[in-house]
Amino acid sequence: MLVNATQMLKDAKAGHYAVGHFNINNLEWTKAILTTAQKLNSPVILGVSMGAAKYMCGYDVVVAMVRAMDKDLGITVPVALHLDHGNFEAAKACIEAGFTSVMFDGSSLPFEENIEKTKELVALAHSKGISVEAEVGAIGGTEDGVTADGEVADPEECKKIVALGIDFLAAGIGNIHGIYPKNWKGLHIDVLRKINEATGNIPLVLHGGTGIPDDQIVAAIHEGVSKINVNTDCQLVFAQATIDYCAAGKANPTADNLEKGYDPRKLLKPGYLAIQAKVEEKMKLFGSVGKAVK
Ligand code: 13P
Repeated sequence: MLVNATQMLKDAKAGHYAVGHFNINNLEWTKAILTTAQKLNSPVILGVSMGAAKYMCGYDVVVAMVRAMDKDLGITVPVALHLDHGNFEAAKACIEAGFTSVMFDGSSLPFEENIEKTKELVALAHSKGISVEAEVGAIGGTEDGVTADGEVADPEECKKIVALGIDFLAAGIGNIHGIYPKNWKGLHIDVLRKINEATGNIPLVLHGGTGIPDDQIVAAIHEGVSKINVNTDCQLVFAQATIDYCAAGKANPTADNLEKGYDPRKLLKPGYLAIQAKVEEKMKLFGSVGKAVK
């Protein structure tokens, strides 16, 4: 059931759990995530980056695929189709294309410009019942192999952007996309607490969900995080399962072994199953299992 992400995240905040946002890249990814959410009776957010949307041919294809899959698989749990780290133009395009939720990432812009653009998108998205995530304090990433700490947001800036009527807020608290470096300092839970106090009851978003120790995830949920983004973890398990399948020679038929392991449906299956298992593990950790409101 495609919905915006507002109510599911309000419920998560009130219930002290988090909804998983899992990035999608193709049909297998989407099906693995949707079927797991349905099996576990969990709400879920399908994240689509601008790059992944381009890879899948464009926003219209993504919307058509997700809507049709939701229907054909008989998915009854709440599913939000969400633009991940969109720029202004992408957010507008996704609002037009039929996404149910958008993230406008204006964190690299001067704060005043971030505020202005976020405000414009909130008005546009809300006129169509679409939820909006905004960002303050960029999420770190690894450049040239060097990353010690992600950016940390200013609670006062968080308060100002929340006042625009956004539905949930990504605030940097030392989190980083991708694999965390050895010298990573950990999440700034103290700053998260201040941001939560400054912003009232708005659901907070934790990006860079891959590789954060479980106890820090639990602490972040305790301090107001209601949406956790996971991407790299699914990519890693998909890649490893595919590598193992190929390394076992299953994709290479010989005169002695005529099994059609090279059939793409077989070749992609171990990775598909690995994504299902990873999503299940994360949903259990985040506490969203059984929380789909019917
Ligand atoms: P990871 O790739 O580190 O899991 O982060 C995902 C993310 O934050 C997407 O917005």
